[in-house]
Amino acid sequence: MAVDFGPNPFTPTFGVDPPLLAGRDYEIGLVRRALGAAPGHPGRTVFITGPRGTGKTVLLNALEAVARQTGWQVISETVQPNLAEILTTASLPLALAAADPDGADSRVTGVSASVLGIGGSVTRQVSERYPVQPGLRQQLELLAHLLKNRHSGVFVALDEVHRSEITELTPLFHAIQHCLRQGLPVAFAAAGLPSAIADLLNADVLTYLRRAERFTLGALPAPVIGPAILEPFARAGRSIEEPALDLAVGAVQGYPFLIQVVGFELWEAAAGSQSVGVEVAQTAVGRAQRTAGRLVHEPALRDLSAADRAFLSAVARLSGETVRVSEVAAALGATRDHASKYRARLIAAQVIEAAGRGQIRFAIPFLREYLLREDP
Ligand SMILES: Nc1ncnc2c1ncn2[C@@H]1O[C@H](COP(=O)(O)OP(=O)(O)O)[C@@H](O)[C@H]1O
Ligand SMILES: [Mg+2]
Repeated sequence: MAVDFGPNPFTPTFGVDPPLLAGRDYEIGLVRRALGAAPGHPGRTVFITGPRGTGKTVLLNALEAVARQTGWQVISETVQPNLAEILTTASLPLALAAADPDGADSRVTGVSASVLGIGGSVTRQVSERYPVQPGLRQQLELLAHLLKNRHSGVFVALDEVHRSEITELTPLFHAIQHCLRQGLPVAFAAAGLPSAIADLLNADVLTYLRRAERFTLGALPAPVIGPAILEPFARAGRSIEEPALDLAVGAVQGYPFLIQVVGFELWEAAAGSQSVGVEVAQTAVGRAQRTAGRLVHEPALRDLSAADRAFLSAVARLSGETVRVSEVAAALGATRDHASKYRARLIAAQVIEAAGRGQIRFAIPFLREYLLREDP
């Protein structure tokens, strides 16, 4: 008899929290302890890196949740060209109003006025007639002071850090560093692709960031993947036979995004049955491979030219974790200049990344396998 087990609980969509977050206990625990510890704790300054689909955004979401549970105020932003403006005109003023509902306005104007060297009782009147916009650093510092008095702090979460936005990020990191040096309760977690984070850490103006903690997300071990697939079934009163679960876990190959794709296809293929057997799992795994191609690889390649694609296929056919650009040029019968141009284009498109001098590698898990399948 077919039973309705409710909606499919899996989330094969970027940025959407999974029904069960597999294997991030260390990262979450470290940040939780950091927020409860003294300001110097390394878990207060964190970079999250890893290829597309390894779970940077959902880990960031989990860290924000930890910060909120700990009573910290969260400022959550996706890095974009007007980030500094958004922070000073919207996010920080809102956070200040929330931190100090009675006096936010007068305190903000007080700070802005003292920046201009105007003090005393005229502060408020003057700044109302000549409104000044306090800078990012002044606002963050004031917020941190207000929250420190309440034994709380401000947690800044930044997603999609990108090399082109370094100038936009610099004033924010300077402001955070300024607060940290004073022992103020400020913490941040910033997520981006490995090449983007590497560029940020190599920026001359941001050398102090190199001391920050780094969470490098990659393949998850099989023991944490099993429960991430099984649990959502169990919650609905369903079970998965052991060989079927083994098959599903094997198909995930440690790639976090595939947990959701395989889980989703398993749920669909199982239809109304209470227990999932190995044949259903085989069907689901086959569909999951095609779905992964459609959701991860095709979109990543969609906007590329035929020449870009030929370059990538040449990279796929060369063996090794990393490949020399000169080898790719040779394989294509192209000049090094020509190959370097494509290398730069494809790094900007976040399909490949630099891996040391003259070397590159794929930035997306299983892209090589996909290309070998599609362009043999
Ligand atoms: N640790 C995990 N356990 C289970 N599912 C995960 C995990 N990490 C990521 N996912 C799932 O993988 C997909 C991609 O995650 P996302 O955070 O968007 O990746 P990224 O930001 O690194 O590109 C989402 O559907 C998410 O729910
Ligand atoms: Mg993301």
